[in-house]
Amino acid sequence: MTQRTRCGDFNADRIGQKTRLYGWVQTNRDHGGVIFLDVRDRFGLVQVVAHPDTPEIHKLAHSLRQQDVIEVLGEVIPRSPETVNPKLTTGAIEVKAIEILVMNRAETPPFQIEDDCDAGEQHRLEYRYLDLRRPQMQSNMILRHRVTHAARNYLNSQDFIEVETPILNKSTPEGARDYLVPSRVYPGSFYALPQSPQIFKQLLMVAGMDRYYQIARCFRDEDLRADRQPEFTQVDLEMSFVTQDDVMNVAEGLILTMFEAGMGTKLETPFSRITYHEAIEKYGLDRPDVRFGLEHTNITDLMKQVEFKVFRNPADKGGLVKVLHVPGGGSLTRKQIDGYTDFVGIYGAKGLAWIKVNDVTDIPGGLQSPIVKFLPDSVLADLLSRCNAKDGDILFFGAGDAKVVNDALGHLRVKLGRDLGLFHEGDHSFVWVVDFPMFGWNSDEKRPEALHHPFTAPVPEDMHFLESEPLKMRSQAYDLVWNGTEIGGGSIRIHDRETQSRVFQALQISDNEAESKFGFLMNALRYGAPPHGGLAFGLDRVLALMLGTESIRDVIAFPKTQRAADLMCEAPSEVGDEQLKELGLRKRRTAAPA
Ligand code: AMO
Ligand code: AMP
Repeated sequence: MTQRTRCGDFNADRIGQKTRLYGWVQTNRDHGGVIFLDVRDRFGLVQVVAHPDTPEIHKLAHSLRQQDVIEVLGEVIPRSPETVNPKLTTGAIEVKAIEILVMNRAETPPFQIEDDCDAGEQHRLEYRYLDLRRPQMQSNMILRHRVTHAARNYLNSQDFIEVETPILNKSTPEGARDYLVPSRVYPGSFYALPQSPQIFKQLLMVAGMDRYYQIARCFRDEDLRADRQPEFTQVDLEMSFVTQDDVMNVAEGLILTMFEAGMGTKLETPFSRITYHEAIEKYGLDRPDVRFGLEHTNITDLMKQVEFKVFRNPADKGGLVKVLHVPGGGSLTRKQIDGYTDFVGIYGAKGLAWIKVNDVTDIPGGLQSPIVKFLPDSVLADLLSRCNAKDGDILFFGAGDAKVVNDALGHLRVKLGRDLGLFHEGDHSFVWVVDFPMFGWNSDEKRPEALHHPFTAPVPEDMHFLESEPLKMRSQAYDLVWNGTEIGGGSIRIHDRETQSRVFQALQISDNEAESKFGFLMNALRYGAPPHGGLAFGLDRVLALMLGTESIRDVIAFPKTQRAADLMCEAPSEVGDEQLKELGLRKRRTAAPA
């Protein structure tokens, strides 16, 4: 029997050969008697011709419709010169049909299976198997495969072993809500789906595995955004007897390899590093996009001298006043400025004061602003020189609670960077953020909370703050940021029981709670836990950045919507009373979908 040739594999070398191909009919054109079929499989597209001089084949070809599945036996022939399509790898040839077999007919698909299809995402998700048939989605899935393959190869070459960890788990604290699975055998008890393999990978280090990795599915019940899914994938790793630098080196090698596999180009390593404190000070965010400048200037001290209450109050009361200096921003219109004022409102900013610098030598006459009248000339002069402002620039001000100001001006900086075209979409910046604080403040519960997770080791020289001023402590945690997106993070872990127990206390986790939640980990630390550390990359985010797509849904075969639903199989769905009874569950009321 004639062997299969995949549609994408045809080229001029095959001219004269008899061949068999399988695929989906993409188009069917009747050109004055001769019928041209475009037939597609995952590997590409080839043109099949049916001539009227073979009436049976011609008639069958005529009846074929989009997305019918066919088998073709034919002869590879050159195209006439005027029909050669240089854009197509198979564009120099066509296959003259000798036999056509319909393997399956297709009904008219709900949308065009083409890259430039105008179906909405909801519709595409409902028929994801058809959406995935589009060349763009096929190439996204192939990219995903290539990149995970390269990641595995790299980690294998570095003596890591892949170990699978359980999905039916006890809760792992990564800060999101758990997905719970009721147990039939233990009515009233639940498994939690893993938010990450964190505790298991640490236990694998205690078990002496030395270097572990896993392409691991994680589950987090949190508010979803374009870069967050309720189930997502991490390239997760852990190493024994290492320092922070050792982990970061391996992680850089891994990203370099994945980037090369996905993008075909090499990145420069080592990546630059910035401390958390410096990132917040300069960029307002702990995931700075360093493709462009527009750094913030802190002017809190200066504002202690002014009467203007909007600035003076936060300066006096432990708040923050910052400037975002935009070179050339003087040409922004009132309407644009109003738009930016609304934008910072999203982050809680109460306003967005500004000064346009028309003539830097003329204070205050050369300054255009609703607030110059409230600021003494000496302060204005100081301000302009600190920001190194020039004619034609604009200064934006944020004043208030430090978190709100940093957030608002941090996001405004990113927005301005994009709006003003301060970077090319093709630029890539990678930066490590290091020296994270060990704890943040949970203002609802009035207690410190782990900024990474409670197993993260403190910087040893900060240990003395643990009981007295925990918020001053730094941890040995690090994040990798690509173009302003956090793509991965990790830490050196606590490997001695005593420190772990003190950290739980600082987090106000009682001994009882620690015992019931993490007793098995605490126990494991009794029996010779090696020093260890690791990191996890968010695979979906890495792939979305490679493709330059906003949404990680584009790199996941069967993703969920922003409301955590699978539109195709209609999950989540109700279950029958019998099933609930078996699980020892009873519905209190049917919750209406919000
Ligand atoms: P972390 O919680 O920072 O660390 O997660 C690591 C990376 O996973 C990605 N990520 C997500 N991607 C898509 N959807 C989500 N909902 C989502 N949440 C997180 C991010 C993030 O940087 N166990 C630790 C790692 C460690 O310490 O080794 C952990 O899970 O890109
Ligand atoms: P107001 O006195 O509230 O009219 O504000 C005067 C100017 O200060 C306006 O341009 C406001 O947008 C701006 N403004 C008000 N509150 C803040 C704030 N918290 N941070 C920065 N600018 C502000």
